[in-house]
Amino acid sequence: MTTGHPLALRPGMRVGPWRVLGRLGQGAFGAVFQVEHGGRLHALKFALRGPGSEDLDRTDARAIRELACLLHAVHPHVVRVWAHGRWPDARTGFHYVVLDYVEGATLAAWVKREAPSARRVARLFSRLARTLGELHARNVFHRDLKPSNILVRAVDDAPVLVDFGSANHAESLPLTEGPL
Ligand SMILES: Nc1ncnc2c1ncn2[C@@H]1O[C@H](COP(=O)(O)OP(=O)(O)O)[C@@H](O)[C@H]1O
Ligand SMILES: [Mg+2]
Repeated sequence: MTTGHPLALRPGMRVGPWRVLGRLGQGAFGAVFQVEHGGRLHALKFALRGPGSEDLDRTDARAIRELACLLHAVHPHVVRVWAHGRWPDARTGFHYVVLDYVEGATLAAWVKREAPSARRVARLFSRLARTLGELHARNVFHRDLKPSNILVRAVDDAPVLVDFGSANHAESLPLTEGPL
């Protein structure tokens, strides 16, 4: 892996003004880092080119659609986007979005760690259902709800939706290749 690839980023290295602290997650199409700038923590998510995919335009379209969905979905229970750009080159590099860092755990880890009461679970899911209802009313559909895409914020047990990489909104162009 060459320098200038997101997967070669190590703690202390920089993406623009953001200093990498560590990696939070990695999938086939994304790599998420915890970063810091000006005393604030953020999550920085790169769009990666899919394995075997030469199609940069498609990766780009996917990244732009994720960003558009996040912007359509501004809500207290949806991770907030603060910036986006390309790295290492501002025109040709990997697309990234800078998000609020959510201090907490994924729903899967939260359930394991907390063994929450039925009351806590019901409270979490009613907030989640209300959030999805509000997003659907705005024609934003997440389409990839699963425990790793739902974070539970440590301070108040609030659900925070992340990963709009499969999401769709009413005005977006069709991108899905196979069945989802
Ligand atoms: N804003 C965030 N704050 C804290 N952790 C995050 C944040 N965004 C993502 N993560 C962590 O990184 C993982 C992968 O992020 P996600 O957006 O789901 O990427 P992918 O598209 O690769 O699934 C999440 O499951 C979560 O553990
Ligand atoms: Mg995910």
